[in-house]
Amino acid sequence: MGKIGIFFGTDTGSTRLVAKKIYSMLGAEIADKPKNINRTRVEDLLQYDALILGTPSYGVGDLPGLAVGCEEANWAEFVPYLDGVDFSGKRIALFGLGYQERYASRFASSLIKLYRVFYGCGADIVGRWSTEGYQFEFSDAVIDGQFVGLVLDQRGQAFLTDERLQVWLGQVKPLLLPELG
Ligand SMILES: Cc1cc2nc3c(=O)[nH]c(=O)nc-3n(C[C@H](O)[C@H](O)[C@H](O)COP(=O)(O)O)c2cc1C
Repeated sequence: MGKIGIFFGTDTGSTRLVAKKIYSMLGAEIADKPKNINRTRVEDLLQYDALILGTPSYGVGDLPGLAVGCEEANWAEFVPYLDGVDFSGKRIALFGLGYQERYASRFASSLIKLYRVFYGCGADIVGRWSTEGYQFEFSDAVIDGQFVGLVLDQRGQAFLTDERLQVWLGQVKPLLLPELG
C-alpha cells in the first residue's frame, strides 16, 4: 500500500506543527514524515498517489514566499516548477492556516491558490470543510459555501485544532487511501 505524503510551507512554524500533528494522528504505517516544501522537488510529490498539503496565508491572502517577506523560499517559489506537471490520478487534501480576527477580510485565502494550482495539474482535490465555528468576513478559500480544505487558526482557535484535525482526517483518510475504506 502506498503511503500519504505530507508537505507544508511555513514561516513561523505553526504549519509545521500542524503537519507533525497530522503525521502522528495518521501514524507511520500510512504516512511519511512531513517535509518542508523548501526542501522538496516536484519528483518528491509525484512519488505519492495521496498527498496532504498545507500552507499559511501571508501578504494579502497570498501563498508564503520571499515576495511577501518570508525568511526562506516557500510555496510561492515552488509553484512555478509545477507548470505542466500531470497530477491526474492523484488525490490531494489541503489544509490552510490563517488568523480570522486580524485578517477577517481574507481569512486563509491562500488556500485557494494551492487548490487552483493542483486542480489545474489534474489532481482530485478532496476534504472540503464547513465554515461553521469560524468568524470572518470573507475568504477566497470558500467555494459553494465550504472551505476547499481544512482551515485552522493557531492564533485565535488553537484549542479547536486537535478536534478539527481528528474529524477531518477521519473524513479524508478513506478518500486518500481507498484500500482502507
Ligand atoms: C505579514 C502577515 C500577513 C498575514 N496575512 C494573512 C492573511 O492574509 N490571511 C490570514 O488568514 N492570515 C494571515 N496571516 C496569519 C498567518 O497566516 C498565521 O499566523 C499562520 O498561522 C502563520 O503560519 P506559519 O507559522 O506556519 O508561518 C498573516 C500573518 C502575517 C505575519
